[in-house]
Order: sequence, then C-alpha cells, then structure tokens
Amino acid sequence: MNALGISGSPRKGGNTETLLDAFLAGAEEAGAETRKVILRDLEFTSCKGCNACHKTGKCVLTDDITPLFDEILEADIVALASPIYSMGITAELKAFIDRGQVYWARKFILKDLYFEYDHIKRHKGFFISTAGQNWDHVFDGAYPVITAFFNDIGFEYTDNIIANNMDEYKGIKGHPTALEEAKKRGRKAVGELQSMSAKTEGE
Ligand SMILES: Cc1cc2nc3c(=O)[nH]c(=O)nc-3n(C[C@H](O)[C@H](O)[C@H](O)COP(=O)(O)O)c2cc1C
Repeated sequence: MNALGISGSPRKGGNTETLLDAFLAGAEEAGAETRKVILRDLEFTSCKGCNACHKTGKCVLTDDITPLFDEILEADIVALASPIYSMGITAELKAFIDRGQVYWARKFILKDLYFEYDHIKRHKGFFISTAGQNWDHVFDGAYPVITAFFNDIGFEYTDNIIANNMDEYKGIKGHPTALEEAKKRGRKAVGELQSMSAKTEGE
C-alpha cells in the first residue's frame, strides 16, 4: 500500500506541508509506504491548451510532471495539499492539475481509460489545506477543482483535511487539534484499504 502526498505550497515546511506531513506520518504508522513531492522543487510548465492529448492521449510536454502522472496512477492514496491563495488553490497545484487534462481526454474523448466502481473505492483521494481567515467557507473555491482531478484519475474524493484561522492560531502548530486529527485520518485511510483487501482475499 502506498500513499503519495503532493504539496502545492510555495512555502516549504509551512502550515499546509506540515499538515500533509502529519497525514503521511499517520499513513506510515498504519503500514503504508509514503512519498512526498513538493511541486515547487519541480521544473514544469503549465498546460499549453494545444489539445493534442484529445487526439493522441499523450501530453506534448515532457518535464518533471511526466513521471509523476504514472506514479499517481500506481498510488493507493493521493493527498493533494495547497494553502488557500486568493480564495482558491495555489498556482503550483492548479498548474499540476491542468496537466492532468490528458486523463480527462482519455476518459471522455478517446474513451480508452475507464475505472470500475470497485477500483475507485480502493483509491482514496484527500484534499489538505490551510487558510488564514476564520471563515467556514474559505475552502469552497478549491473543492470543484479537486473533485475534477480525482474524478479524472479514478480516485474516490474521500475527505478534506482542512484548518482555517491560521492567522489567529499563528500557524498550524498553534492549532489545538489539526495535526493530531490529520495523523488519525492517515491511519484510518490505510486501515480502511487494508480491511477492503483482507475482505477480498477472504472471499
Ligand atoms: C498570496 C496569498 C494569498 C492568500 N489568500 C488567502 C485567502 O484568500 N484566504 C485566506 O483565508 N487566506 C489566504 N492566505 C493565507 C494562507 O492561506 C495561510 O497563511 C496558509 O496557512 C499558508 O499556508 P502555507 O504555510 O502552507 O503557505 C493567502 C496567503 C498568500 C501568501
């Protein structure tokens, strides 16, 4: 079982990446192999909108994102992490998600990519985010983008692990419950997938 975390925060070791680390630590504790990718460290360009993938099912761009898309399809758990910037996700995560258009093209135009319901149930996607404001709806602009991406890659959009009010807490480490809760959710995600596998093996 493996869990892949993708951090779209430009601030290394910041609130969002720390929350992602807690989630991955929980997953590791429960027995998963984990890996974190920091988009800021990668060299890549955003989608050019050439629509070549609509005909070929392949992206014309070859860069650090190229192997990551193969890796994502092999993961059991994917956690996409981004702070809220201007009421949405960061440019880094959005650029990464737009490059996933190739999967949309394969699913909905070329129709050579199809995920059975059982596959989707066994692939869990999480959105991990932090925001400065103390406003319950501050994450709402991000959800449709994350939904679209998990839908394209055949993952169930399982849950959000979010913490607002960072300004008042003076960062994620000042939050009373968020880090422990993220760890718990990491453990739970792996535990649920392990139970599903055990059930299948027992049938
Ligand atoms: C460019 C920029 C835009 C931001 N926009 C918002 C916003 O619209 N709403 C909000 O609640 N916080 C906003 N914030 C605050 C961040 O979401 C918050 O500080 C977050 O915890 C930062 O996460 P990080 O430490 O991973 O960078 C913004 C911060 C920056 C730098």
